[in-house]
Amino acid sequence: MNAIGGCDLHELAARFGTPLYLYDAVRIEENCHILRHAFNAHYPATDIFYAVKANGNPHLLRLIAACGLGADCASPLEVTIAERTGIPREKLMYTGNYESRDDLIAAARCGAVNLDDITALEKLPGDFDGILSFRVNPGEGSGSHPGIVTGGPDAKFGISLESAPAAYRLAAERGFTRFGIHLMAGSNNRDPLFFARMTAILCHIAADIFRPLGRHPEYLDIGGGFGIPYADGEAPLDLDALARAVAGVLTGCCAEHGLTPPPLRIEPGRFIVGDAGYLLTRVTAVKKGPRRFVGLDAGMNTLIRPALYGARHRAILVGMESTAGTATLCGRICENTDIFAADIPFPDAVEGDLVLFRDAGAYCAAMAMSYNGRLRPAEVLCQDGSARLIARAESAEEFLGRYSV
Ligand code: LLP
Repeated sequence: MNAIGGCDLHELAARFGTPLYLYDAVRIEENCHILRHAFNAHYPATDIFYAVKANGNPHLLRLIAACGLGADCASPLEVTIAERTGIPREKLMYTGNYESRDDLIAAARCGAVNLDDITALEKLPGDFDGILSFRVNPGEGSGSHPGIVTGGPDAKFGISLESAPAAYRLAAERGFTRFGIHLMAGSNNRDPLFFARMTAILCHIAADIFRPLGRHPEYLDIGGGFGIPYADGEAPLDLDALARAVAGVLTGCCAEHGLTPPPLRIEPGRFIVGDAGYLLTRVTAVKKGPRRFVGLDAGMNTLIRPALYGARHRAILVGMESTAGTATLCGRICENTDIFAADIPFPDAVEGDLVLFRDAGAYCAAMAMSYNGRLRPAEVLCQDGSARLIARAESAEEFLGRYSV
C-alpha cells in the first residue's frame, strides 16, 4: 500500500510530517451508505446517529452529516462540535453516563436524551421537550476485548431491566410525554445474532414499559457496536444478515405484544470511520538483540488501543511487500506497554522507513494524548489525490500555553 485516497504516502509524510493520521474520505462515505442501504432494505424506519466519540474531528463529522447521519454525543463539547457542524437538533442525540447537571443542560439541546440512570431524571431541565429515554443494561454484553463490553453485571452503564418500568413511570409522572428506549451492550461485534438478541431484549422490555403507560416509544435504540475486521482472515460483519435479523425480531416482537413497530435507531462509531483511517509513522531507531525492536515516532500516546485493550492494528512497512523476519513495534514512551505488536512477521526496517497502521480511524486520534511530552499529531483528509489538513499537529507553544509559562 503506497497511497491513500490517491495521495502518495511518502509525499504526505514529507509534506505534513509524522506521526500523521490519514483518512480516506470516500471510504467514510461508502461506510455510511453501506449501512444505510442494509437497513433500508429490511427496516427502512431506521435512523443512524454517528457516535462522535469514535472520532470527533469536525471535518469528518461534516462529511458524515452530509451522508444524512445524525450525531450521538457523549459530552457537552461533543454537542457543541455537532451543532457547529450544522446538524439540526432533531438529528442530535445525547448518551452520557453519570451525568452532571451541566451535562444535562447541554444534553437538552439535543432532540433526544438517553439517561443512564433514574437519578439523572431530576437533573434534566424540566422544560426539555425532546424525546426522553433510559439506557437499559440488558444483563449481558459482548465486545472484542473485555474493556469494551458495556452490558452485563460488570458494566457501569444503564439501569437494570427490572427497574426500567419504574423509571418510565416516574418520568411520566413528572410530565414527560415523549419516550424512547436505549441499550448499548458492547463494541466491535461481528456476530449479527448478538444484535438480534439485544433487539429482542429491548423490544420485550419496551412492551412491559409502554403498554401500561399507554404510550408508544418514538424509537428503539440498539446502540453501536458494529465491528470491523482488524486482522487478515477475519470475516467482516454481514450487515445484510444483521439488518434482516434485527428487523425480523422487531416485527415479530411487536406483533406478539400488539405494538406498532417503532422507528429503530443505531449509533455506529467504529463502522463509519474505523477502516477509513490510518496512522503513518516513521522508524526512529532499530535495536537488534534477542528480539528486534523497531522504534517509531508514534507511541501509545498516539494510538493507545494496543496498550489499553491488547488490540492489534495491522502494520505495513511502506513500499515493502515481503514479510521476512520478525519485529516488535514500539513507540518512544517510557512505559513497557508502549508496544504496538510483539514478534510479528515484519520486513527488515531501517531508520527513516515509513510504517503504516491500518484501521486507525476510530478511537485512535480521539484517544491520543501528550504523555511524555509527545504531542498529538496532525490529521489529513485524502480524496482524489488531494490532501487537506483537518487538524494541525499540537505545538509545544499550545501545550505550554495551558500552563501560562
Ligand atoms: N453509543 C454509545 C452510547 C457508546 O458508548 C458507543 C461506544 C457507541 C455508541 C459506538 O460504538 P461503536 O459503534 O464504535 O462500537 N475505545 C474502544 C471502544 C469503546 C466504545 C465506547 N462506546 C476501542 O478503542 O475499541
